[in-house]
Amino acid sequence: MNCSLNWPEPVVRVQSLSESGICSIPECFIKPLSDRPSRNTVTTTTTNISETHVNIPVIDLQNLFSNDQRLCDETLRLVSDACREWGFFQIENHGVSHELMKSARETWRQFFGLPLDLKQEYSNSPSTYEGYGSRLGVEKGAILDWSDYFFLHYMPLSLRNEVKWPAVPPSCRKVIAEYGDETVKLCGRLMKILSINLGLGEEYLQNAFGGSESIGACLRVNFYPKCPQPDLTLGLSPHSDPGGFTLLLPDEDVSGLQVLKCNEWVTVKPVPNAFIVNIGDQIQVLSNAIYKSVEHRVIVNAVKDRVSLALFYNPKSDLLIQPAEQLVTEDRPALYSPMTFDEYRLYIRTKGPRGKAQVESLKCPR
Ligand code: OGA
Ligand code: NI
Repeated sequence: MNCSLNWPEPVVRVQSLSESGICSIPECFIKPLSDRPSRNTVTTTTTNISETHVNIPVIDLQNLFSNDQRLCDETLRLVSDACREWGFFQIENHGVSHELMKSARETWRQFFGLPLDLKQEYSNSPSTYEGYGSRLGVEKGAILDWSDYFFLHYMPLSLRNEVKWPAVPPSCRKVIAEYGDETVKLCGRLMKILSINLGLGEEYLQNAFGGSESIGACLRVNFYPKCPQPDLTLGLSPHSDPGGFTLLLPDEDVSGLQVLKCNEWVTVKPVPNAFIVNIGDQIQVLSNAIYKSVEHRVIVNAVKDRVSLALFYNPKSDLLIQPAEQLVTEDRPALYSPMTFDEYRLYIRTKGPRGKAQVESLKCPR
């Protein structure tokens, strides 16, 4: 396994660069022309009316708990359509306290607002990625993204190590734990919904992931500093999430997330108090591509920094993940060869975000 112990180049905190007041960004952040934000972006200033209203589906989960079976089925169908057509949707009335969502966001904003030397105590390395980081991938000379982050393990318990979580602000560890509990519970419910919708029975996906005590849950808190030349770079390069699926808490007043739909980048408009859910590569594999992970990226701006919390819900890392038998037929043979998530995520950890190249590479030759 290629688990480098160190970064290939000295780490520069993007936030420090941003706060230093530079007017032009260092060359290592400048994307080639074809990858810059203006390309293929659906903007709201277009004269095409239909395009001005594009947004990922917003689904109210309230009726899932209704005694009225019809309302419940209708909600399942909305989720099913969103998974098939978008791979990305927002959920409202998801059961997680709005207060908690707010305090999670605020706590992490406070963390990133701390003096640099305090944050440096948590500096991460490419061997586990846990802690305070500024790059994804270890290739020397790579073009970097305009963001810093904090990455931590919440599940399984054997990987949870609160000592590695920020001790300041003082509420941080408590908030992470409360937020982790609530979001992991919500993810468990979403797993059932996806599993039922795939016709696999309520527990299939969770069992394939190793069961609720063994699943992996990691939190990646992204911090996108203001950027003096936002047209030249990206906050996060195009990628699909390698795990099962992701529960994203976006910034409340700055947008930036874009989703690739029909070869165009659609900017997500976050609904207050909603989470954004997106399908990851492992569910694409398990569903034999009935659901697809969708490429997304983040753009930055010159005016406001942005914080987002991505909770990745993943299979137990040493289980082989492969298309569910029930979804493999003569007409639709298994599209992917089995692989453990441990092996799988080495790719993004080594090469950095590269669109959907990895899941494509898993395709069975035929
Ligand atoms: C991620 C991600 C999107 C965002 O962390 O994988 O896609 O809006 N984040 O920060
Ligand atoms: Ni992502």
